Parts: sequence; C-alpha cells; structure tokens
Amino acid sequence: MNVYDSHRIASILRHLGFSEASSLKNADLIILNTCHIREKAAEKVFSDLGRIELIKQERAQEGLSTIIGVVGCVVQAEDEQIVKRAPYVDFALGPLTYHRLPEILAQIGRKRQEPLIDTEFPAESKFDYLPQNTSSGGCSYLAIQEGCNNFCTYCVVPYTRGIETSRPVEDVLKEAKTLVSEGTLEINLLGQNVNSYHGTDASGRERSLAYLLNKINEIEGLQRIRYTTSYPADITEELIDCHKNIKKLMPYLHLPIQSGSDKVLKAMNRRHTSGQYLEIIAKLREANPLLGFSSDFIVGFPGETDADFEATLDIVNKVKFIQAFSFKYSRRAGTPAALMPNQIEEKVKKQRLDILQDLLFSYQLNFNKETVGKIVPVLFESKGRHAGQLVGRTPYMQNLHAELGKEFLNKIVNIKVTEATTNSLSGQQEGK
Ligand code: 5AD
Ligand code: SF4
Repeated sequence: MNVYDSHRIASILRHLGFSEASSLKNADLIILNTCHIREKAAEKVFSDLGRIELIKQERAQEGLSTIIGVVGCVVQAEDEQIVKRAPYVDFALGPLTYHRLPEILAQIGRKRQEPLIDTEFPAESKFDYLPQNTSSGGCSYLAIQEGCNNFCTYCVVPYTRGIETSRPVEDVLKEAKTLVSEGTLEINLLGQNVNSYHGTDASGRERSLAYLLNKINEIEGLQRIRYTTSYPADITEELIDCHKNIKKLMPYLHLPIQSGSDKVLKAMNRRHTSGQYLEIIAKLREANPLLGFSSDFIVGFPGETDADFEATLDIVNKVKFIQAFSFKYSRRAGTPAALMPNQIEEKVKKQRLDILQDLLFSYQLNFNKETVGKIVPVLFESKGRHAGQLVGRTPYMQNLHAELGKEFLNKIVNIKVTEATTNSLSGQQEGK
C-alpha cells in the first residue's frame, strides 16, 4: 500500500510540474513516505530525516532551498511529535490527507512560518481528489479498500489508516480499464482488509470483492488479477468460487494467520482459530488445487509459550506456505497488546523467529526447486542488476531473472526455469 501511495504522490507532483530528481542532492523537494507497523520502521524515519537535514544544509550553502515533507502512518501516529523531533520538516501529512499536497505546497510557497501538519481523518475520500491513477508498467496496484475495523490487539493500522472504507465499484472499474488501456497486464487490488470490500455500485447497492473480481475479469487485455491482503474470517464461499472460475486470478493467495495457537489468536483478537484457518485453506485448495499460500507470522506475542510457538510451527508444516513474512512482536504504543502482561524477552523472540524462518525458508526453497525444469509465464517488470537481464514475476509471485532484451519489459514471456534459490528463480526463454 505504501508503494502504491508513493506512486500516487509522485503523480500529484508531476501534475504540479515536478520531475524526478537523479539523487537526493539534486532534489528541491524530498518526501519520506513512512510506515508505523513496527518500531524499527518508525524509528528509521527519524534517522533518515537526520540524513536528509544534512543534505538540506549542504544545499543551503550552495544557495539552494529544499522542502522536506513526511507522509504516511508515522505522521498519523506521531502528529506534532514529528516536527518536535525534526523541526526542519516543512510539512507532515497522514495517509488519508496526501491529496492535499498541492494546497500545502502552495502555502509553503507563500512563505509559511510554522511546519504544516494535517492528520485529520477527512470527510472526503482522497481518491476523489487525486489525479487519475497511471499504469506503473505491466503490473499495477489499484487500491479498492482502505483502513481496518478488526483491531487486532498488536496492530496500529486501525488507528493510522482509520476505519474501513471501500471505493465505489464504478470508480474501481474505470480505473482498472484506464490502467489496462495504458498497458497494464496485471492488476493487484489492494486493501488492508481487501476481502471485506463492500463498495456501492451505480444503483447504490453494496457489492462484494467476488462481484468486483468477476467484473474486472471481463476487461479485455487484462491477463492477471491478484488481491491482497485478506483476512481469513472474511473469505466467503463466493470468493472461494472465484478461485475456481476466474482463470485470470493468479493461483497465489496471501492469507495471514499470525499464530498457530488458538490461545494467542484469541489474545490477538483474531476472529478465527487455527482449525478454521485450515478449513478455509482446504476449501480454497478444493476450488483450485494449484493454489499456493503465503502468510504473515508474529512470534513472541505477549504470553506466547513454547507450546504456543510449537503450534505455529505445526501450522507451517500443515499448510507448507510457499512464501511468508515473519516478524518479532513489536510493542506499539496505544495498542492493547502493549499493556498486556508477560511480554516476551527479545532473546526468546529472536530464537523463535530464527527457528520459524528456517522452517518457512525450507518450504519456500522446496517449492522453488519444484519449479525447475517447468515452463512458466513470467511478467517482466524491471531491468536486472546485470546488463541484458530482466526480472519478473511468475504466477506464484516468485522473482525470476532471465537474459532478455528490454523489448520484453512489461510483457508476459514463457520461461523455462533452470535454477532456484530460496528467494529467486533463473531461466531462459522457452525454445531458446
Ligand atoms: N509487531 C509485529 N508485527 C506486526 N504486524 C502488525 N503489527 C505488528 C506488530 N505490532 C505484522 C502482521 C501483519 C503485517 C502487515 O505486519 O503480521 O499481518
Ligand atoms: Fe492490522 Fe490486519 Fe489486524 Fe487490521 S486485520 S488490525 S490491518 S493485522
């Protein structure tokens, strides 16, 4: 979602006449888009800001002025603390107010005195004020839903991105068609809780994600559809059917479980047990036996015992995730879990994370190795590190490197996979 927001912010700036600078030193305007989900990410903002301030000073010695802005969830959470800790920041906007950037920059141009901060949860939807979303190449993000009402006890999202809202069906379809007309082959529908999408159609009727997927499926020229991130308890039968009936829907689903222990899931305020999660996975696999799953895990949640942690390993062994994101629990001020007793020692969190990641990576490597020798359609999104190399994604979101000319950029090419590591695949064009 942050990558998507940055893309939208860049497009506002292009409309205002800005263009991308070759380096920070050459930038008249520097905006940091920030994440507050874990402490490490949030703290990084202040160290990055310190470095940016030095650049601002260097530029000032050359007679150049620099505007520094911060946007995103750290702003929403820290509010005025941002400018208290980093007084050289000119403006700070929350994730729901960055559409007000043109007005903010105009005010700064009128020689403002104090830093400008806007962390309102606005009545208007930013999507109605942003310039049209533009294709980012063969693969584009499209936000359809934002915010979350789940209030998992560890999570800041409901406080930073606000309550759950869905964009109207017609707006989403219009945007999807525009993206495809600009060359997008793959659309990834985004939302913090994307499968509880309930946008209204032209007649005012609330529609589900499944309805939307079927509509998007009809767009000619579009070849791949994904949606992320889903909440297990909100996976409906209708959505499961989409995995059977919509061929454009990629056979990969990110479905966070967080923990395999029902006691921990309850303390996390998750509305599902590990058994229910496995049932959903089984139904999805029945709908499409080729589906691969990825997940998010938190280790060291307050009160997590060795037995609870074992239950997490057990779930991993049962589902055999093909990819996963795993984190040490991070205590976030203002969330209920931060005040829970039995916080887990850092050392134990680290040990558990190491064990969990070893297991997750072994399944990921196995899955990648099984791909060797197969021919897979790869959507090439960027140039590789070496000349003459492109990097793309398989239907399972594996990164794949291949020796290919740039005429294949933003195209889907059949690739024979020749090598696999935990994090990527290599291959060559079929028949070459
Ligand atoms: N500590 C660690 N991980 C967290 N996540 C969310 N909040 C926290 C936290 N306080 C993880 C969850 C979520 C992912 C986006 O980030 O696993 O699914
Ligand atoms: Fe955070 Fe996801 Fe839980 Fe919402 S469902 S509170 S975004 S972890």
